[in-house]
Amino acid sequence: MPGAIHAEGLVKAFGDVRALDGVDIDVPEGSVLGLLGPNGAGKTTAVRCLTTLLRPDKGTVTVAGIDVVKRPHDVRRVIGLSGQFAAVDEYLTGRENLEMVGRLYQLSAKAAKVRAAELLEQFHLDDAANRTAKTYSGGMRRRLDLAAALVVSPPVMFMDEPTTGLDPRNRLQLWGVIQDLVKGGTTLLLTTQYLEEADHLAHNICVVDRGKVIARGTSDQLKAQTGGERVELVVHERDHLRAAAEVMRGFGKGETTVVQHTRKLTVPVSGGAKLLAEVIRELDTRGVEIDDIGLRRPTLDDVFISLTGHAAEEEERDEEDEGGEDGARAVGSGRGSAGVDQKESLR
Ligand SMILES: Nc1ncnc2c1ncn2[C@@H]1O[C@H](COP(=O)(O)OP(=O)(O)OP(=O)(O)O)[C@@H](O)[C@H]1O
Ligand SMILES: [Mg+2]
Repeated sequence: MPGAIHAEGLVKAFGDVRALDGVDIDVPEGSVLGLLGPNGAGKTTAVRCLTTLLRPDKGTVTVAGIDVVKRPHDVRRVIGLSGQFAAVDEYLTGRENLEMVGRLYQLSAKAAKVRAAELLEQFHLDDAANRTAKTYSGGMRRRLDLAAALVVSPPVMFMDEPTTGLDPRNRLQLWGVIQDLVKGGTTLLLTTQYLEEADHLAHNICVVDRGKVIARGTSDQLKAQTGGERVELVVHERDHLRAAAEVMRGFGKGETTVVQHTRKLTVPVSGGAKLLAEVIRELDTRGVEIDDIGLRRPTLDDVFISLTGHAAEEEERDEEDEGGEDGARAVGSGRGSAGVDQKESLR
Protein backbone atom coordinates (compact mmCIF):
# COMPACT_ATOMS: atom_id res chain seq x y z
CA MET A 1 0.00 0.00 0.00
CA PRO A 2 1.41 3.41 -0.91
CA GLY A 3 2.47 5.59 1.99
CA ALA A 4 0.99 8.95 3.03
CA ILE A 5 3.44 10.59 0.62
CA HIS A 6 4.13 8.60 -2.50
CA ALA A 7 5.93 9.58 -5.69
CA GLU A 8 6.93 7.41 -8.60
CA GLY A 9 9.18 8.37 -11.50
CA LEU A 10 9.08 12.05 -10.67
CA VAL A 11 10.70 14.18 -13.37
CA LYS A 12 11.00 17.97 -13.42
CA ALA A 13 13.28 19.88 -15.76
CA PHE A 14 14.09 23.57 -15.92
CA GLY A 15 15.46 24.04 -19.43
CA ASP A 16 18.46 21.74 -19.62
CA VAL A 17 18.60 21.09 -15.89
CA ARG A 18 16.83 17.92 -14.84
CA ALA A 19 16.17 18.98 -11.26
CA LEU A 20 14.34 15.68 -10.68
CA ASP A 21 15.29 12.78 -12.88
CA GLY A 22 13.02 9.87 -11.99
CA VAL A 23 12.62 10.10 -8.23
CA ASP A 24 10.66 7.51 -6.23
CA ILE A 25 9.68 8.38 -2.68
CA ASP A 26 7.45 6.62 -0.21
CA VAL A 27 6.75 7.85 3.30
CA PRO A 28 4.66 5.47 5.40
CA GLU A 29 1.93 7.13 7.42
CA GLY A 30 3.14 8.45 10.76
CA SER A 31 6.82 8.31 9.84
CA VAL A 32 9.49 10.88 9.04
CA LEU A 33 11.50 10.85 5.83
CA GLY A 34 14.71 12.86 5.77
CA LEU A 35 15.56 14.04 2.27
CA LEU A 36 19.27 14.82 2.09
CA GLY A 37 21.46 16.03 -0.70
CA PRO A 38 23.99 18.68 -1.67
CA ASN A 39 22.91 22.13 -2.85
CA GLY A 40 21.06 21.92 -6.12
CA ALA A 41 20.32 18.20 -5.69
CA GLY A 42 16.61 18.74 -6.23
CA LYS A 43 15.25 18.70 -2.67
CA THR A 44 13.22 21.90 -2.86
CA THR A 45 11.98 20.98 -6.32
CA ALA A 46 10.75 17.67 -4.91
CA VAL A 47 9.03 19.42 -2.00
CA ARG A 48 7.39 21.88 -4.40
CA CYS A 49 6.14 19.08 -6.68
CA LEU A 50 4.79 17.15 -3.70
CA THR A 51 2.98 20.18 -2.30
CA THR A 52 1.20 21.26 -5.53
CA LEU A 53 3.42 24.32 -6.05
CA LEU A 54 5.06 22.87 -9.17
CA ARG A 55 3.63 20.58 -11.78
CA PRO A 56 5.90 17.61 -12.44
CA ASP A 57 6.78 16.87 -16.08
CA LYS A 58 6.35 13.16 -15.52
CA GLY A 59 5.51 10.72 -12.77
CA THR A 60 2.72 10.22 -10.30
CA VAL A 61 2.41 11.76 -6.88
CA THR A 62 -0.16 11.13 -4.20
CA VAL A 63 -0.46 12.66 -0.77
CA ALA A 64 -2.83 10.93 1.65
CA GLY A 65 -3.92 8.91 -1.34
CA ILE A 66 -4.94 12.03 -3.31
CA ASP A 67 -3.43 12.71 -6.73
CA VAL A 68 -1.45 15.94 -6.49
CA VAL A 69 -1.75 16.89 -10.16
CA LYS A 70 -5.42 16.03 -10.58
CA ARG A 71 -6.73 17.27 -7.23
CA PRO A 72 -4.35 19.96 -5.96
CA HIS A 73 -7.04 21.73 -3.93
CA ASP A 74 -7.90 18.60 -2.01
CA VAL A 75 -4.23 17.95 -1.35
CA ARG A 76 -3.79 21.46 0.04
CA ARG A 77 -6.43 20.71 2.65
CA VAL A 78 -4.41 17.90 4.19
CA ILE A 79 -0.89 19.30 4.08
CA GLY A 80 1.19 21.88 5.89
CA LEU A 81 4.32 23.39 4.39
CA SER A 82 7.22 25.33 5.77
CA GLY A 83 9.32 26.33 2.78
CA GLN A 84 13.06 26.90 2.57
CA PHE A 85 12.57 30.64 2.68
CA ALA A 86 10.28 31.93 5.38
CA ALA A 87 6.99 33.17 3.96
CA VAL A 88 5.62 35.62 6.48
CA ASP A 89 3.76 38.86 5.94
CA GLU A 90 6.28 41.55 6.79
CA TYR A 91 3.68 44.17 7.58
CA LEU A 92 1.71 42.12 10.07
CA THR A 93 2.84 41.41 13.60
CA GLY A 94 3.82 37.88 14.58
CA ARG A 95 0.48 37.44 16.30
CA GLU A 96 -1.48 38.79 13.32
CA ASN A 97 0.38 36.48 10.95
CA LEU A 98 -0.63 33.43 12.98
CA GLU A 99 -4.21 34.58 13.51
CA MET A 100 -4.55 35.23 9.79
CA VAL A 101 -3.42 31.69 8.98
CA GLY A 102 -5.91 30.33 11.53
CA ARG A 103 -8.72 32.29 9.89
CA LEU A 104 -7.64 31.06 6.44
CA TYR A 105 -8.01 27.55 7.80
CA GLN A 106 -11.54 28.41 8.93
CA LEU A 107 -10.85 28.65 12.66
CA SER A 108 -13.19 30.97 14.56
CA ALA A 109 -11.68 34.33 15.57
CA LYS A 110 -11.45 33.12 19.15
CA ALA A 111 -9.88 29.78 18.28
CA ALA A 112 -7.37 31.50 15.98
CA LYS A 113 -6.36 33.84 18.82
CA VAL A 114 -5.91 31.01 21.29
CA ARG A 115 -3.88 28.95 18.84
CA ALA A 116 -1.71 31.94 17.90
CA ALA A 117 -0.95 32.62 21.57
CA GLU A 118 0.01 28.98 22.16
CA LEU A 119 2.37 28.93 19.20
CA LEU A 120 3.94 32.28 20.06
CA GLU A 121 4.82 30.89 23.45
CA GLN A 122 5.98 27.54 22.11
CA PHE A 123 8.32 29.22 19.61
CA HIS A 124 9.60 31.81 22.10
CA LEU A 125 8.08 34.66 20.16
CA ASP A 126 5.75 35.99 22.83
CA ASP A 127 7.97 38.98 23.61
CA ALA A 128 7.97 40.00 19.96
CA ALA A 129 4.37 39.00 19.26
CA ASN A 130 3.12 42.53 18.73
CA ARG A 131 5.95 43.75 16.52
CA THR A 132 5.71 43.66 12.74
CA ALA A 133 7.56 40.73 11.21
CA LYS A 134 9.85 43.04 9.27
CA THR A 135 11.59 43.87 12.55
CA TYR A 136 12.29 40.17 13.21
CA SER A 137 15.71 38.57 12.95
CA GLY A 138 16.25 35.73 10.46
CA GLY A 139 15.83 33.08 13.14
CA MET A 140 12.65 34.72 14.43
CA ARG A 141 11.13 34.80 10.94
CA ARG A 142 12.02 31.16 10.51
CA ARG A 143 10.27 30.30 13.77
CA LEU A 144 7.22 32.36 12.84
CA ASP A 145 7.03 30.56 9.51
CA LEU A 146 7.24 27.17 11.25
CA ALA A 147 4.61 28.23 13.75
CA ALA A 148 2.37 29.26 10.84
CA ALA A 149 2.74 25.80 9.32
CA LEU A 150 1.51 24.33 12.61
CA VAL A 151 -1.55 26.52 13.23
CA VAL A 152 -3.78 23.63 12.29
CA SER A 153 -2.12 20.24 12.56
CA PRO A 154 -2.42 18.77 9.10
CA PRO A 155 -1.91 15.00 8.78
CA VAL A 156 0.96 15.45 6.32
CA MET A 157 3.71 18.02 6.77
CA PHE A 158 6.58 19.17 4.59
CA MET A 159 9.48 21.14 6.01
CA ASP A 160 12.25 22.36 3.73
CA GLU A 161 15.34 23.01 5.87
CA PRO A 162 13.27 23.88 8.93
CA THR A 163 16.16 24.62 11.25
CA THR A 164 18.54 26.46 8.93
CA GLY A 165 19.44 29.70 10.68
CA LEU A 166 18.13 28.64 14.08
CA ASP A 167 20.42 28.79 17.09
CA PRO A 168 21.09 25.49 18.90
CA ARG A 169 18.48 26.09 21.59
CA ASN A 170 15.73 26.82 19.08
CA ARG A 171 16.85 23.91 16.92
CA LEU A 172 16.54 21.48 19.82
CA GLN A 173 13.21 22.97 20.74
CA LEU A 174 11.94 22.48 17.20
CA TRP A 175 13.10 18.87 17.25
CA GLY A 176 10.90 18.42 20.31
CA VAL A 177 7.94 19.99 18.50
CA ILE A 178 8.50 17.70 15.52
CA GLN A 179 8.73 14.63 17.71
CA ASP A 180 5.47 15.54 19.40
CA LEU A 181 3.80 15.99 16.03
CA VAL A 182 4.96 12.60 14.86
CA LYS A 183 3.82 10.99 18.12
CA GLY A 184 0.42 12.46 17.31
CA GLY A 185 0.42 10.61 13.97
CA THR A 186 1.67 13.27 11.54
CA THR A 187 3.60 12.09 8.49
CA LEU A 188 6.57 14.34 7.77
CA LEU A 189 8.98 14.87 4.92
CA LEU A 190 11.88 17.07 5.91
CA THR A 191 14.98 18.27 4.12
CA THR A 192 18.02 19.32 6.05
CA GLN A 193 21.70 20.12 5.76
CA TYR A 194 22.21 19.07 9.37
CA LEU A 195 22.77 15.37 9.20
CA GLU A 196 22.53 15.07 12.95
CA GLU A 197 19.00 16.33 12.55
CA ALA A 198 18.12 13.60 10.07
CA ASP A 199 19.79 11.07 12.35
CA HIS A 200 17.73 12.27 15.26
CA LEU A 201 14.35 12.67 13.62
CA ALA A 202 14.06 10.59 10.47
CA HIS A 203 12.89 6.98 10.40
CA ASN A 204 14.09 6.69 6.83
CA ILE A 205 16.56 8.68 4.81
CA CYS A 206 16.75 9.32 1.10
CA VAL A 207 19.92 10.83 -0.35
CA VAL A 208 19.45 12.68 -3.63
CA ASP A 209 22.10 14.07 -5.93
CA ARG A 210 21.58 15.66 -9.34
CA GLY A 211 17.92 14.79 -9.38
CA LYS A 212 18.33 11.09 -8.59
CA VAL A 213 17.99 9.05 -5.42
CA ILE A 214 21.47 7.63 -4.81
CA ALA A 215 20.81 5.85 -1.51
CA ARG A 216 18.04 5.13 0.90
CA GLY A 217 17.54 3.29 4.12
CA THR A 218 17.53 3.90 7.83
CA SER A 219 20.39 5.89 9.28
CA ASP A 220 21.89 2.67 10.69
CA GLN A 221 21.63 0.85 7.38
CA LEU A 222 23.37 3.68 5.57
CA LYS A 223 26.10 3.84 8.20
CA ALA A 224 26.63 0.10 8.05
CA GLN A 225 27.21 0.33 4.31
CA THR A 226 29.72 3.08 4.74
CA GLY A 227 31.94 0.62 6.55
CA GLY A 228 33.76 0.34 9.86
CA GLU A 229 35.46 2.77 12.13
CA ARG A 230 37.34 5.93 11.27
CA VAL A 231 40.49 7.54 12.53
CA GLU A 232 39.96 11.24 12.85
CA LEU A 233 42.86 13.54 13.60
CA VAL A 234 43.54 17.24 13.79
CA VAL A 235 47.05 18.39 12.94
CA HIS A 236 48.57 21.29 14.82
CA GLU A 237 49.58 23.18 11.71
CA ARG A 238 47.96 23.35 8.33
CA ASP A 239 51.36 22.81 6.70
CA HIS A 240 51.41 19.32 8.14
CA LEU A 241 48.20 18.20 6.45
CA ARG A 242 49.99 16.77 3.43
CA ALA A 243 52.45 14.70 5.47
CA ALA A 244 49.65 13.49 7.73
CA ALA A 245 47.56 12.51 4.69
CA GLU A 246 50.50 10.46 3.38
CA VAL A 247 50.81 8.64 6.70
CA MET A 248 47.08 7.97 6.80
CA ARG A 249 47.13 6.64 3.26
CA GLY A 250 49.35 3.82 4.50
CA PHE A 251 46.84 2.81 7.16
CA GLY A 252 43.50 3.62 5.56
CA LYS A 253 40.95 1.32 3.96
CA GLY A 254 39.54 4.07 1.82
CA GLU A 255 40.20 7.63 0.82
CA THR A 256 41.28 10.23 3.32
CA THR A 257 38.98 13.23 3.69
CA VAL A 258 40.82 16.45 4.44
CA VAL A 259 39.12 19.59 5.68
CA GLN A 260 41.64 22.39 5.34
CA HIS A 261 40.14 25.02 7.58
CA THR A 262 39.65 22.71 10.56
CA ARG A 263 42.98 20.88 9.84
CA LYS A 264 41.08 17.62 10.18
CA LEU A 265 41.71 14.33 8.40
CA THR A 266 39.36 11.38 8.45
CA VAL A 267 40.08 7.93 7.08
CA PRO A 268 38.23 4.61 7.30
CA VAL A 269 40.35 1.93 8.98
CA SER A 270 40.20 -1.51 10.49
CA GLY A 271 42.43 -2.49 13.35
CA GLY A 272 41.08 -0.53 16.31
CA ALA A 273 43.16 0.88 19.13
CA LYS A 274 46.30 -1.04 18.16
CA LEU A 275 46.27 0.67 14.80
CA LEU A 276 45.73 4.02 16.45
CA ALA A 277 48.95 3.54 18.43
CA GLU A 278 50.82 2.73 15.20
CA VAL A 279 49.41 5.82 13.49
CA ILE A 280 50.56 8.02 16.36
CA ARG A 281 54.06 6.51 16.27
CA GLU A 282 54.33 7.03 12.52
CA LEU A 283 53.12 10.63 12.72
CA ASP A 284 55.66 11.23 15.45
CA THR A 285 58.46 9.79 13.32
CA ARG A 286 57.46 12.09 10.49
CA GLY A 287 57.41 15.09 12.81
CA VAL A 288 53.68 15.73 12.41
CA GLU A 289 52.33 17.40 15.52
CA ILE A 290 48.71 16.59 16.35
CA ASP A 291 46.14 18.38 18.47
CA ASP A 292 43.64 15.56 18.60
CA ILE A 293 43.24 11.99 17.42
CA GLY A 294 40.56 9.38 17.95
CA LEU A 295 38.71 6.38 16.68
CA ARG A 296 34.99 6.67 15.97
CA ARG A 297 32.04 4.92 14.36
CA PRO A 298 30.82 6.30 11.02
CA THR A 299 28.34 9.13 11.25
CA LEU A 300 25.72 10.18 8.77
CA ASP A 301 28.19 12.84 7.65
CA ASP A 302 30.56 10.07 6.55
CA VAL A 303 27.71 8.47 4.63
CA PHE A 304 26.99 11.76 2.93
CA ILE A 305 30.63 12.34 2.04
CA SER A 306 31.14 8.86 0.67
CA LEU A 307 28.00 9.12 -1.44
CA THR A 308 28.26 12.64 -2.75
CA GLY A 309 31.91 13.45 -2.26
CA HIS A 310 31.08 16.50 -0.19
CA ALA A 311 30.53 17.32 3.42
CA ALA A 312 27.01 18.73 3.77
CA GLU A 313 28.04 21.99 5.38
CA GLU A 314 30.79 22.54 2.82
CA GLU A 315 28.49 22.65 -0.12
CA GLU A 316 28.16 26.41 -0.28
CA ARG A 317 31.90 26.81 -0.51
CA ASP A 318 32.47 23.92 -2.90
CA GLU A 319 29.71 24.76 -5.30
CA GLU A 320 32.06 26.66 -7.57
CA ASP A 321 34.08 23.49 -8.05
CA GLU A 322 31.08 21.50 -9.17
CA GLY A 323 31.82 19.65 -12.34
CA GLY A 324 35.55 20.25 -11.92
CA GLU A 325 38.25 17.74 -11.12
CA ASP A 326 36.93 14.61 -9.56
CA GLY A 327 39.81 14.83 -7.12
CA ALA A 328 37.61 17.14 -5.08
CA ARG A 329 35.46 14.16 -4.27
CA ALA A 330 36.58 12.24 -1.27
CA VAL A 331 35.47 8.80 -2.33
CA GLY A 332 34.76 8.07 -5.94
CA SER A 333 33.85 4.44 -5.65
CA GLY A 334 31.03 4.87 -3.18
CA ARG A 335 28.72 6.68 -5.58
CA GLY A 336 25.52 4.89 -6.16
CA SER A 337 26.77 1.64 -4.72
CA ALA A 338 25.40 2.16 -1.25
CA GLY A 339 21.71 1.90 -2.09
CA VAL A 340 19.90 -0.17 0.50
CA ASP A 341 17.17 -2.11 -1.15
CA GLN A 342 14.37 0.37 -1.22
CA LYS A 343 11.22 -1.51 -0.35
CA GLU A 344 12.98 -3.67 2.24
CA SER A 345 14.32 -0.80 4.19
CA LEU A 346 11.19 1.25 4.45
CA ARG A 347 9.01 0.68 7.43
N1 LIG B 1 12.60 27.86 -11.00
C1 LIG B 1 13.75 27.36 -11.45
N2 LIG B 1 14.24 27.70 -12.66
C2 LIG B 1 15.39 27.20 -13.13
N3 LIG B 1 16.14 26.28 -12.47
C3 LIG B 1 15.71 25.89 -11.27
C4 LIG B 1 14.50 26.40 -10.68
N4 LIG B 1 14.33 25.82 -9.48
C5 LIG B 1 15.38 25.00 -9.30
N5 LIG B 1 16.20 25.03 -10.37
C6 LIG B 1 17.43 24.22 -10.57
O1 LIG B 1 17.12 22.89 -10.25
C7 LIG B 1 18.15 22.28 -9.51
C8 LIG B 1 17.62 21.78 -8.18
O2 LIG B 1 17.30 22.90 -7.37
P1 LIG B 1 16.65 22.75 -5.92
O3 LIG B 1 16.30 24.11 -5.45
O4 LIG B 1 15.57 21.74 -5.99
O5 LIG B 1 17.87 22.16 -5.09
P2 LIG B 1 18.01 21.88 -3.51
O6 LIG B 1 18.40 20.46 -3.37
O7 LIG B 1 16.80 22.35 -2.81
O8 LIG B 1 19.26 22.80 -3.13
P3 LIG B 1 19.58 23.65 -1.78
O9 LIG B 1 20.23 22.69 -0.85
O10 LIG B 1 20.56 24.66 -2.27
O11 LIG B 1 18.32 24.24 -1.28
C9 LIG B 1 19.26 23.32 -9.40
O12 LIG B 1 20.17 23.11 -10.43
C10 LIG B 1 18.51 24.63 -9.59
O13 LIG B 1 19.36 25.59 -10.14
MG1 LIG C 1 16.44 23.73 -1.34
